Amino acid sequence: MDVVAQTVETYDKIAAEYCKKTRRPHLLQWEENYIKRLLFHIDEPIPLVLDVGCADGRHCVMIDKNSGRAIGIDLSRTMLTEAKSFYPGGRFCHMDMRRLAFADGFFGGIWMSGCIYHVPKAGAKSVVEEFARALKLDGVLAVNFKLGTGEGLEQNPRSFAGFPRYFAYYGKEEMRELFERCGFQELETCGFPEEIFGDRIQQMWLRLRTK
Ligand SMILES: C[S@@+](CC[C@H](N)C(=O)[O-])C[C@H]1O[C@@H](n2cnc3c(N)ncnc32)[C@H](O)[C@@H]1O
Repeated sequence: MDVVAQTVETYDKIAAEYCKKTRRPHLLQWEENYIKRLLFHIDEPIPLVLDVGCADGRHCVMIDKNSGRAIGIDLSRTMLTEAKSFYPGGRFCHMDMRRLAFADGFFGGIWMSGCIYHVPKAGAKSVVEEFARALKLDGVLAVNFKLGTGEGLEQNPRSFAGFPRYFAYYGKEEMRELFERCGFQELETCGFPEEIFGDRIQQMWLRLRTK
């Protein structure tokens, strides 16, 4: 089994616990601010926004509430069950972010929270190319990532019972370059508030400038 399949199998097992942990009011407020910022950057009244690795669908709720139209995708079927129960009115599909079943230029925006680090770096460029294909020219993508170096399967007994998940860590420059090589230009970047995740999570917004 490859490391992505292993990671998704873990999310199938930990879905309920993961979703409970992420619904912290303080975190939700920051996430919604970042989603509003994504919508602010998109030059369309009601943009269609892809939520990559949507988990419980809470970000789809926020996108729809703030005048976007969200489609959430996830490779974990258990996560999608959580999403459909949390947001019965939402639009969700079982899909791999590495192979999007959407037409070229289908989306005005892409929201990608907590997902890029589950892609091995060797395949990251082709994943970003796939996002660029599915995004309109001048569309905007928001990505958050964990600062650091290296990558590999992690099994921490204190985190989700030690089930394995793949993590790839990036520097800010490294992440910017990954997207720039696929036609994106950075709009802005900030750190998540320290009290939420230390200073390890960065949030970046980028516009697709060339196809
Ligand atoms: C860390 S969680 C992030 C969930 C949510 N976006 C958030 O910010 O809380 C990663 C999610 O990505 C999903 N995922 C991992 N690899 C994927 C892939 N190749 N395609 C689609 N979803 C994937 C997992 O099932 C999981 O729901």
